[in-house]
Parts: sequence; structure tokens; C-alpha cells
Amino acid sequence: MTVLPLGLRQLFPALLAIMTVLNPVSGRAAEPAAEQPTVLITGSNRGIGLEFTRQYAARGWTVIATTRRPEEARELRALAANRDNVVIERLDITSDAEVAALAEKYRGRPIDLLINNAALLEKLDRQLLGKLDYELFDRSFAINAIGPMRVTEALLENVAASGQKKIVTLGSAAGSHGLLNPPANLYPYRASKAALNLLMHNLALDVAKRGILVGVINPGLVDTRGVLQLKPGEAPPEEFAALMPLIRAGKIRLITPEESVAAMVKLIDGLTPAQSGTFLNYDGQTLPW
Ligand SMILES: NC(=O)c1ccc[n+]([C@@H]2O[C@H](COP(=O)([O-])OP(=O)(O)OC[C@H]3O[C@@H](n4cnc5c(N)ncnc54)[C@H](OP(=O)(O)O)[C@@H]3O)[C@@H](O)[C@H]2O)c1
Repeated sequence: MTVLPLGLRQLFPALLAIMTVLNPVSGRAAEPAAEQPTVLITGSNRGIGLEFTRQYAARGWTVIATTRRPEEARELRALAANRDNVVIERLDITSDAEVAALAEKYRGRPIDLLINNAALLEKLDRQLLGKLDYELFDRSFAINAIGPMRVTEALLENVAASGQKKIVTLGSAAGSHGLLNPPANLYPYRASKAALNLLMHNLALDVAKRGILVGVINPGLVDTRGVLQLKPGEAPPEEFAALMPLIRAGKIRLITPEESVAAMVKLIDGLTPAQSGTFLNYDGQTLPW
């Protein structure tokens, strides 16, 4: 975390550890390392967001790693404790107050890349016809579609003021009309991701004149639940149970967060104006909306 200068860190590692536990969120805005771009990531405490944080931090970028519960973000805090270029900020993307507070804290500070990664995918049994949970529709739209829009609007001037001017949002093939195939399930998730696609496509057209690039990327089917590490006989997480025979038979390819994020980082590095406002797979293929 950036709260202590490097020398002090080396002198008082125990103090740093205690401070990190007591106050995981920085009081000051992250200071960008000279000449290094800045990335802000939502939902950076686990899964793909944590891996984005690792990979951009390893490249020396200034990473503003946001999470709705910094106190519980053990892995993220351990990562930030060992690096000067990662700062943790509290952010629930459904909260007007938290988004406004973050935007105020970083007002005037360029953010080269905003990654809207946070999302909600609830268990399958609440997303099947006959068992649909309408409260889950509300939450899915609030987190998956409206949340990224709220964060993007609040930080738009930070992105506009930066060198790279990129907004990247994690979409899902599950939200694509063109890729819709049986099994037709996941109603709230699919609908909220489809709405997200429309919002980001619209945004791309709106901000093109300012030179801002807007990418929507499907990360692939990514093993953020540790399924690839299961030992024979170990039960998979409930949401993967139905997929396991297909995964084991090699009919569905699960990729690791490391593999997915490395490919997306490369894609984002090379993002072109022609790709802005399109839906991209992590490997660079264009997908249908
Ligand atoms: N994994 C895949 O195969 C896959 C496939 C297609 C698309 N995607 C997309 O890729 C992105 C990352 O996926 P993932 O598998 O890494 O997801 P994940 O493991 O389920 O993690 C979701 C992240 O979003 C955060 N989050 C949820 N609600 C939030 C809120 N209101 N405010 C802020 N953060 C919130 C979670 O925080 P908490 O820990 O606090 O809940 C967590 O950090 C998502 O947009 C997902 O839809 C993933």
C-alpha cells in the first residue's frame, strides 16, 4: 500500500502489517509511479479482478484495487502489503455514496484504464424457469449493468485526462443474443449482461469524439472456483456440478485466471479505435452482441 514510504516499510514491517490489518483502505489517493499508467479495477479481491491486480501490479502500473469489503480481502491485502504500487479502496458499485466518495478522492487524477470487472452470478437454481427469483433480477441489474455505468460515469473525466483513455468492461458470452443456445437458463444474469452490452456499446459511440476507447471483453470460461485443482472424488462447487462431465470430457475448456487475464492484458494493450464499441473474446476474436 502507498501509505508508508519504502524506507519506513523496510524498518517497520511489523508496524506495516498491523496498520494494514487495522486500516486496509488508504487515506490518501494512490500516487502514480513516474511514467507508469494507472488502472482502477472493481471487484479486485478475488477471481479475475484479483488476477488483473496481480498482473498490472507486476508490470509496475499504479493499481487502484477496489473491493466492497477491504477488511475481508485477505489475498488482496497480502498483495498490496508487498508492493508500493497497489492501493486498496472501498467500493460497492451499487452505492451512489461510495462511488461519489471515490470520484471525489481521485478528482483530477488521470486513470488510464478503468476495468469494470465486478459482477454477480448467483446459483443456477434461482435462475431457472419455474424457480425465478425476481429479487435476484433487481440485484443482477443493479450490480451487472447499472453498477459499471455508475462507476464509469463518475470516473469518466479521470479517464479522459489520461494518456491511454480506456474503459474495459467484463461482459459475458451468456449475455450475447448471437451466441444464445440451449441450455437456456440464467435469466437474470444473461439479461443483465445483455443490458450491460447495450450500455457500453452506447457509451463507446458517445465518447468516441473524446478519443476514449470502450471495450467489452468476454474472459472465456475461467476457473475462478478452483475446479481445475479438484482431486479425484472431490465434489465441485454446486454451480459447476452440471458442467463437470463436459469439462472432464474436454468438451468445455476451462481456462485459468492467469491465462485469461494475460490474454486480456495483451488485448487491452493493443485496443484500437476500430475495436471500441465491439464485443471481444479474450483471445481477440470479435463476438456478436
Ligand atoms: N469466470 C468466468 O468464467 C466468467 C465468464 C464470463 C464472464 N465473466 C465475468 O468476469 C468478471 C469477473 O468474474 P469472476 O469469475 O472473477 O467473478 P467472481 O469470482 O464471482 O468475483 C466477482 C467479484 O465482483 C465483486 N462484486 C460483487 N458485487 C459487487 C458490488 N456490488 N460492488 C463491488 N464488487 C462486487 C465480488 O466481490 P465480493 O467478494 O465482495 O462478493 C468479487 O470481487 C465478471 O464480470 C463476470 O461476469 C466471468
